[in-house]
Amino acid sequence: MAADGPPLAASQALAPPGPVPRHVAIIMDGNGRWARDRGQPRVFGHRRGAEAVRRTVTAAAELGIEFLTLFAFSSENWRRPAAEVGELMGLLRLYLLKEIAELHANRVRVKVIGDRAALPTDIVTLIEGAETRTAANTGLTLSIALSYGARAELANATRQIVADVLAGRLAADAVDDQAIAARLSTAYMPDPDLIIRTSGEQRLSNFLLWQAAYTEFVFLDGHWPDFERADLERALDAFRLRDRRYGASVG
Ligand code: FPP
Repeated sequence: MAADGPPLAASQALAPPGPVPRHVAIIMDGNGRWARDRGQPRVFGHRRGAEAVRRTVTAAAELGIEFLTLFAFSSENWRRPAAEVGELMGLLRLYLLKEIAELHANRVRVKVIGDRAALPTDIVTLIEGAETRTAANTGLTLSIALSYGARAELANATRQIVADVLAGRLAADAVDDQAIAARLSTAYMPDPDLIIRTSGEQRLSNFLLWQAAYTEFVFLDGHWPDFERADLERALDAFRLRDRRYGASVG
């Protein structure tokens, strides 16, 4: 991937030893542009993007990251041409069919967040099978955001809170940060420490809006299909140099 900072060796030399972020989330952007730059159809970029997913999951586990969350398909992506949506669903189907055995052997726990009602039923069955099979694994937790939109997630949590208050299960004045977080699809994971976005765009695009309150961001210029372990390491180096104060004053 084209570097937008110092070469990896130099940035590694500069980076102080520090903790690996527990939770890294990635907005995998630029598959279409990557394909267009090569005179290929967008689907070509998505296919190569799926290969980058495989490499990244392996690298994240090896680097000691505990939670990796990948934005694979947003609630807005349904607006794309049917052929492209079909191709993306096909790649996700293939991933869930072909990769789960190896992920399971590597102790990866697989989870999927997002609106399952919108997904083809066979993919929902594959998701449920993958989640059940890997539920007890203690290695990396890989969460795939599929048909996911943070505003819809927050609206859903709000509906649950209203129902709980109306049913007398929850006092209105007990609705606090924790009550909301517990009703999000991400309740099982810590908030992301680091969000990486490829392809030069610098926005969140309805991804983990609540959870990203204190997240650090690293934006890379290269497109997702070119994403390599070295890019992940470079993002971790940048993260280690950040001063996270969570609203406190400079010490
Ligand atoms: C963004 O590129 C990428 C997507 C909308 C889909 C991401 C999907 C994959 C990486 C492949 C399948 C995923 C898994 C988990 C197996 P874009 O199409 O928006 O690119 P552009 O902005 O250049 O048009």
